[in-house]
Amino acid sequence: MDSHGGPRFHLREGLRARGRRPARVKGEEEEEEEEEEEEEMSQALCDAPSAQGDLRYIKLVSGHSIPSVGLGTWKSASSEASHSVYTAITEAGYRHVDTAPLYAIQEEVGRGLQAALQAGIPRNDLFITSKLWCTDLSPDRVRNALKQTLKELQLEYLDLYLIHWPFHLKEGATRPPRASDILDFDMEGVWREMEKLVKDGLVRDIGVSNFTSKKLNKLLQCAQIMPSVCQMEMHPGWRNDKILEACKNNGIHVTAYSPLGSSRSDRDLIHDPTVVTVSKKLNKTPGQVLLKWGLQRGTSVIPKSTNADRIKGNIQLFGWAIPQEDLEALNSIRDQRRTVSGEETFVNKSEGPYKSVAELWDDEV
Ligand SMILES: NC(=O)c1ccc[n+]([C@@H]2O[C@H](COP(=O)([O-])OP(=O)(O)OC[C@H]3O[C@@H](n4cnc5c(N)ncnc54)[C@H](OP(=O)(O)O)[C@@H]3O)[C@@H](O)[C@H]2O)c1
Repeated sequence: MDSHGGPRFHLREGLRARGRRPARVKGEEEEEEEEEEEEEMSQALCDAPSAQGDLRYIKLVSGHSIPSVGLGTWKSASSEASHSVYTAITEAGYRHVDTAPLYAIQEEVGRGLQAALQAGIPRNDLFITSKLWCTDLSPDRVRNALKQTLKELQLEYLDLYLIHWPFHLKEGATRPPRASDILDFDMEGVWREMEKLVKDGLVRDIGVSNFTSKKLNKLLQCAQIMPSVCQMEMHPGWRNDKILEACKNNGIHVTAYSPLGSSRSDRDLIHDPTVVTVSKKLNKTPGQVLLKWGLQRGTSVIPKSTNADRIKGNIQLFGWAIPQEDLEALNSIRDQRRTVSGEETFVNKSEGPYKSVAELWDDEV
């Protein structure tokens, strides 16, 4: 079985087999120390699940490690994105940045990354995620889409490449799409091309986003390289337990997107009474409580902010914990619903193949 053969894949083999790129040539001793550190880290994950909310890195099925806190970039203004990426990395200590071509700011994110690299941060210390957009969801378009993303980000490789949404849109599709705008999605063919990107060293890990357990099962039937990560909306207002459980059962790490409840005015988790009560009790900000809730469930979190103070505050998540009774209070927040349902992008009630949000999510609510 190759490096992605399953959750029991050994880290030491993983680092060798997947060709971890050192920032500089390391001596044998240094390399061994690093391996020992990473083994200790993964041991902590296995031995003390209660401490998982305090891990700065989480081991993936591939053997690589994902930083547990990353900077989201959706809706970052193009005038701010570059500076916030730079600030997050060089001043706040973020090592993980999440972006996508859909956000139309990859060039700005790339400039922020370049500035951070020039300031002395080794590329190997960073974990950069981007995504394959729906119009490129056919086998013949995968490689070019990745190359365009690498060009915009000014990078030679990505740490993680995700299928953004499992719907294949025709180029120039109307929004919301009509039936003729949604094309057949050759999941196996697309995945095979993504696997080739891993083999060619252009991408270290591959994964999915906005999948249901039904679609995940379909992918697992044909995957030769396991998806390392599934990125899903998750916060106390949308716990999304079903997919979290499905991923855990398959050794797939989950990244919680919109961990603060996103910026929708109809869902203000930052001012939710339970979140506010817990934050006052723990002397933390509501944002920190929401993010720590995500970490204590074993997920990584990718809060978006372009405000320097909030960027810094959002990674102050280590060395403290939400006690069990407060976790339970957060876990009992009612009115569970998605804020990023896909409705505006994919549902066309009169002319679409997807006439409701439930259809998009295979009725998994
Ligand atoms: N895979 C997918 O389909 C998908 C979908 C959605 C999102 N994502 C990824 O996940 C990231 C995060 O999700 P998101 O952007 O939807 O929402 P989010 O991170 O849950 O929330 C962002 C909003 O919260 C504000 N904020 C940040 N820190 C705060 C704090 N400590 N206190 C109060 N408000 C705070 C931000 O404003 P300021 O900037 O002014 O601080 C912004 O308005 C995205 O940026 C993107 O990278 C992926």
